[in-house]
Order: sequence, then structure tokens, then C-alpha cells
Amino acid sequence: MTNKIHFGWFSQCAGPIGFDSPNATEGADWREPEMYQKMAQICENGKFDFALFADHLGISVDSGNRIDTHVEQGVTVCHDSTVLAATVAAHTKHLGVGTTMSTSLTLPYQLARQISSLDHLTKGRVAWNIVTSYSKGAFDNFGYDSVPEHDARYDQADEFMDLCCQLWGSWEKDAVVMDKASGLFADPDKVKPIHFKGNYYKSAGPLNMVPPAAGRPVMIQAGSSNRGMEFASRWADAVIVAKQTVEDMKKYYDSLKEMARKYGRKPEEVKVLFIIKPIFAATEELAAQKAAEPVSDNELHRAITQLSHRMNFDLSKLELDEPVPVMNEKGITGGQTTLSRHQTAGHRPTLREIATREVVGNNLNITGTPEQVADQLQQIMETIGGDGFVLRVNPHEHGYMQEFVDTVVPVLQQRGAIRQQYTGDTLRDNLLEF
Ligand SMILES: Cc1cc2nc3c(=O)[nH]c(=O)nc-3n(C[C@H](O)[C@H](O)[C@H](O)COP(=O)(O)O)c2cc1C
Repeated sequence: MTNKIHFGWFSQCAGPIGFDSPNATEGADWREPEMYQKMAQICENGKFDFALFADHLGISVDSGNRIDTHVEQGVTVCHDSTVLAATVAAHTKHLGVGTTMSTSLTLPYQLARQISSLDHLTKGRVAWNIVTSYSKGAFDNFGYDSVPEHDARYDQADEFMDLCCQLWGSWEKDAVVMDKASGLFADPDKVKPIHFKGNYYKSAGPLNMVPPAAGRPVMIQAGSSNRGMEFASRWADAVIVAKQTVEDMKKYYDSLKEMARKYGRKPEEVKVLFIIKPIFAATEELAAQKAAEPVSDNELHRAITQLSHRMNFDLSKLELDEPVPVMNEKGITGGQTTLSRHQTAGHRPTLREIATREVVGNNLNITGTPEQVADQLQQIMETIGGDGFVLRVNPHEHGYMQEFVDTVVPVLQQRGAIRQQYTGDTLRDNLLEF
């Protein structure tokens, strides 16, 4: 039997990045809702599981503590992803909508309540992308003197999750009665304070909103470091991750599923979704031509700014055409595998190569006709064992997504490799469908 593949859309920037791309839809304005709603509707037509919006809580700074480069390039200028997810949910019916919220820069009560509301208002379609935040600009905005250390943020996040789960558990499943005859809304014996006291947080509870119908929302995570994987395997329903080789993908997939087992979870409860952006065209020659198109200097420098932001380390000081040195990852306060995932066995790429890959986004170099791309996607999934892919596409690029849904998706559907129709009512149903 053919393995079924999940697809999601990951919008790495719900902001201006991409406004100047030759592939941007004419007239698309990142400040207005239609750009995102239209893209989400295309994904829903392709029967994707979800759209996920990244988020950042401040304009990043460079090593000289200046914001200028980031402002010039629009890096980390973006919508509040929770507001955006609600706007998109109102214009879709089946597609999951993911918002990114920070465990370091939000209070657990506030987040548990907000997500509970969204879960009901979207009828079970919301997902929370759990991040710990890493940028100095963000921590500066929230009154911190420094960015907490990488692993310590995950320790705090574990306690944050414990508290959220207790708040979501503060209402028993059958607490709400809503009996019209007696006027009884809810049974007070089934709604209890939690009196949580931890190392970082205190909260009395119970939540003043009914928890998500499934007990907790769908949770997504994107940690690739060892500590990040520990965290993800404990809490996440889906993990999104970028890898450069099938071997690295398989290694990540197997390790994460094994870690999930350690936490008493079934491996199939944690979906691993790999970030890709295949290049496809009607003929192999045209696809090869597209793949050979050079990236502009603007795109290249913006990618370096984005990578620097993601690592919390200013890469602009490195030589563009020298192999990037292998760094001590423990010293990186942002994404610890941002560079090392490119430094695969026997290859030490230059900064130009890494930034170019970042612009193109074609991890694993999946290129060809729609049939050839479908072949490659299926082969990768067969080698790894599952579970699916996330297309990292800029929200300005409707044309790319429309073409993917019009050409690659039907091939995969005909082969029984992706769903023809949504069968579940909620995002969780769809994620657990196969
Ligand atoms: C695909 C992807 C998307 C991410 N999206 C965000 C985001 O929107 N906001 C954010 O603050 N961090 C984001 N992150 C950062 C991660 O959540 C994580 O904090 C970071 O990668 C550091 O953890 P690690 O060293 O375990 O990978 C993202 C990371 C990846 C790989």
C-alpha cells in the first residue's frame, strides 16, 4: 500500500519579505488579509493539513546593536501570528491554522486562554507553534537585560507546558452542563483551581474559558538541537525541520520517534514534517533552467540577515566565498543547527552557498516535472518511513502554490499518496488520519 503524505504550508514571514520578488503576486499587500487568506484557500484546495505562520517579537539587532539592516530589509517585521491565524481561519473551512507563540515572552495563563478561545472559534483547527524566542531585540522589548541561555529556555518552556496542561485540565470534560431548564451552566465540582507553583511560574487557575475540546490544542515545534528534540518529543503533535540529506532526515526521524517512545508516547502521535520547496515545470529542461536562475544580491544579503537573526549571531562579518567554519553550537543562543545542517559529511559550504540555499529553499534538490517531483517526494517518504512535508513558501507567492496544487498534488492524489478529501473535522483528526 502507498504511504500517505501530509502537507503543510509554512510562512516563514508574515510580513514584507518577498514584496520585491519577481514571483510576488501583482498587487499583493502583506499588511492586508487577502494575501494570506488567498494562499490558505489554495492550500485548502490542495487538501493540506495546515498553514503555519511564524512570528517574532522584535526587530533584530546586529553585532553593533543596530537595527538598520533589519529595518532596510524588513527582516522580523511581521504580523502578530495569532491575529493572523484567526483572520485566515475565518476564510477557510478545513485547513488547520498555526500561530507561533513564545514560552519566554508570554505568560502561560494568557496563552492557555487565548489558544482555548481560538480552538473553539476555529472548531478545532488551531495549532500552537511553541517557540522559546531567541532574539535580543525581542528580549529587549520585554524588559530583559539579556537573552536567556539556549537550554535554560527549554527548561522554562517545560514548566510553561506543565502549567498550560494543568490549566487545560482544570475543567473536566463533562463540566459544562448548559441545562436550559435549571439554568445551570457548569458543575462547580468539575472546575477546580490548580494552585500551580513552579520555579518560574505561579498560577491559581482554573481557566476562565472552556479548554480545547480535545483537552489540549495541536502543538507544533521546530527544535533541532538535542535539547530541542527532547522538548519536541515530549510535547509536540508535529515537528517541522529542515535537513539537507535523506540520511540526515532519516536520522532525525528515527531519533525523534525513539525519544517520543521514552515519554510513553506512540511514535505515530508525533508527525515529522520536512521543510522543502521543490522546483518544477512542464518539462525537465524548464525545471533545470528554473533551478539554475541566479539569486539577486538583495535576496542573498537578506538571507544572511535572516540566518544571523535565527542564530543570534552576526554572519555578515564572515567571508562570503570562504567555507564557513564549524562553530561550537553550545555557544549559539539561537537555532543551534542553523549552519551545521548544511555542513554535511564531506562538504563545508561557503556563506554564499548557504545563503543561496536559504533563498531557494529547495532542500534535497527536488527538481523536475510534476511527475518526477511526485516520484522524489514518495521515494523520500518511503526511505524515511513518513510523515510528510511542509512547503516553505513566501505568502506573496500565490503562483508557486497554485501551480503546486494544480500539477503536483493531482499526481500524488491519483497515486493515493495524499488525501482526496478531508475526512476529519479537526486538525488533530487530519494529522492522525494516516
Ligand atoms: C522551521 C523553523 C521555524 C521556526 N519558526 C520560529 C518562529 O516563528 N519564531 C521563533 O521565535 N522561532 C522560530 N523558530 C526557532 C525554533 O523554534 C527554535 O527556538 C530554534 O530553532 C532554536 O532551537 P534549536 O536549537 O533546538 O533548533 C523556528 C525554527 C525553525 C527550524
